[in-house]
Amino acid sequence: MIPKSFIQDLLNRLDIVDVIERYVPLKKAGANYAACCPFHSEKSPSFTVSQSKQFYHCFGCGAHGTAIGFVMEHAGMGFVDAVEELARSIGVPVPREALAPGQVHQKIAPDLYEVMQAATRYYREQLKQSPRAIDYLKRRGLNGEIAARFGIGYAPEAWQNLNGITSSYQDSSLVETGLVIEGEAGKRYDRFRDRIMFPIVNARGQVIGFGGRILDSGEPKYLNSPETVLFEKGHELYGLFQAQKAIRNNQQVVVVEGYMDVVALAQHGVGYAVATLGTATTAYHVQKLLRLADQVVFCFDGDAAGQRAAWRALENSLPHLVDGKRISFLFLPKEHDPDSYIRENGTESFEQLLHESLPLSGYLLRELSAQVDLRTQEGRSNLLEHAKPLLMAITAPTMALLLRKEVAALAGITQLELEALYGVKAMGAAPRRATQKAGRPAASNLRVLLRCLLFKPDLIRELPQEIADEGADSEAIEALSAWLLAQDGEVSSAVLIQSFQGTAHEPLFAAEQAEIMQWGETFDVDAEFQGVLAKLREETRKRKFEALNARIAGKELKALTEQERLLYSQLYKPG
Ligand code: CTP
Ligand code: MN
Repeated sequence: MIPKSFIQDLLNRLDIVDVIERYVPLKKAGANYAACCPFHSEKSPSFTVSQSKQFYHCFGCGAHGTAIGFVMEHAGMGFVDAVEELARSIGVPVPREALAPGQVHQKIAPDLYEVMQAATRYYREQLKQSPRAIDYLKRRGLNGEIAARFGIGYAPEAWQNLNGITSSYQDSSLVETGLVIEGEAGKRYDRFRDRIMFPIVNARGQVIGFGGRILDSGEPKYLNSPETVLFEKGHELYGLFQAQKAIRNNQQVVVVEGYMDVVALAQHGVGYAVATLGTATTAYHVQKLLRLADQVVFCFDGDAAGQRAAWRALENSLPHLVDGKRISFLFLPKEHDPDSYIRENGTESFEQLLHESLPLSGYLLRELSAQVDLRTQEGRSNLLEHAKPLLMAITAPTMALLLRKEVAALAGITQLELEALYGVKAMGAAPRRATQKAGRPAASNLRVLLRCLLFKPDLIRELPQEIADEGADSEAIEALSAWLLAQDGEVSSAVLIQSFQGTAHEPLFAAEQAEIMQWGETFDVDAEFQGVLAKLREETRKRKFEALNARIAGKELKALTEQERLLYSQLYKPG
């Protein structure tokens, strides 16, 4: 555990401009720095870095964050690794918080990576000595070059093959990495025996797990490493490390189901394929891939399981769609998976299918209309029911708008009728945000208030309780005030943003950070803050006054209590 105060110190001591410059050349542009965005491909720079606020924002793809977030995204590192990297760059050691009694130590010992590396070497060595395994790979059409590129190996038949890769077979690292299983009475044996071994590699090229395939037939066909401190399945993609360059060059990534699919595609010159690791495509995967490429194609097997996997991928993609990026689906003929398809029909044919893949919107509409009978009123009503959670999950404004139009057309109603039905605010306002309750302060003033607090967190001290309570309608302001009031001492914008990373409020904060980028360094935030407070106070006064007025409703002041009458006269303002 890294203490929170250290993260704060680190962010205060770093300069985000220095950090980003190590990876991307920046140019001064007005109050900020700009560059072509490293997270999507573009010709004119919309990636913007604020030195005074210590955060970055891309106006093209929406990437945003602090120096820590940048290193995580750009180098594909986890939070802890990014913090360590940055701390090293300014020569400070990372302190560790003592663990509470009973808490499990999750720190990754560096030797666990070494053990995985040693196992990989061992399995590769064994492949060279097994004509049977070599023959199997040859029959599956793989050449030596591709086998080497993916580090493919072979685990022989014996029970304790790995005796020898560490000083002792009793070494705990063998069990911690999942390579060895400890059975009853502490008896140990290798997890992988007589299997083709596919190393699973993280973004930095370190082996973190294995997939082991049985030669020919048998059960289970694949055996995978368990989740360990090194290996979190929902976060990793098989082949991503090898595919990175091809993905950037082609601005395209193909997501397939199997190890063999990735390897076979690479063998046939399609180097931009990755596979999920026997799990559904997670939101984490989608976000990661959309950062790397403009186009993501999901290509699952033609069978029923493949269809289910595609729908799951669609559901997990909706909240992360980015206008201008393309997600599409390729459904292979029933009897094929990508491996068998490309071997039978060749690269050109496969790339043609990619080219013709069905856009996410088309897939969504096709599935929705297939579930119901659009000729009947009940069917159209069901369509609107089924479509609602899906459409409301989309935050990309243009995509959401276009799909609302199309679903409305399918249901035979107008776009406005559909929006009223779903409670979407007109003019394509982000659908996820709660609609404003009548008589409450207008969202725009609360947004300006939020913006001021992000710009200068210290302003929290000047926020009157009354307004803070009003803001309770906006959960983001409530959460922000609660957090700010719990901090001791001043906090910077970057620290604040880092703390809200990954929370439900992050998208709203990000939108306000983008606005802040346009406020120059000399922007008078105090005046802006006082201005918006005045507006909010006035709104509150009006609302209370109107509430009392409604109670009176022609019945003279007698309808009110003594106290209310006093309040009424105070709230009254001519004109
Ligand atoms: N998988 C798994 N465990 C299984 C079966 C499958 O973990 N018992 C995962 C593996 O990651 C595998 C993927 O699901 O690569 C796809 O499975 P499948 O289509 O059956 O395998 P292929 O990759 O097509 O393998 P092969 O062509 O070698 O049969
Ligand atoms: Mn296959």
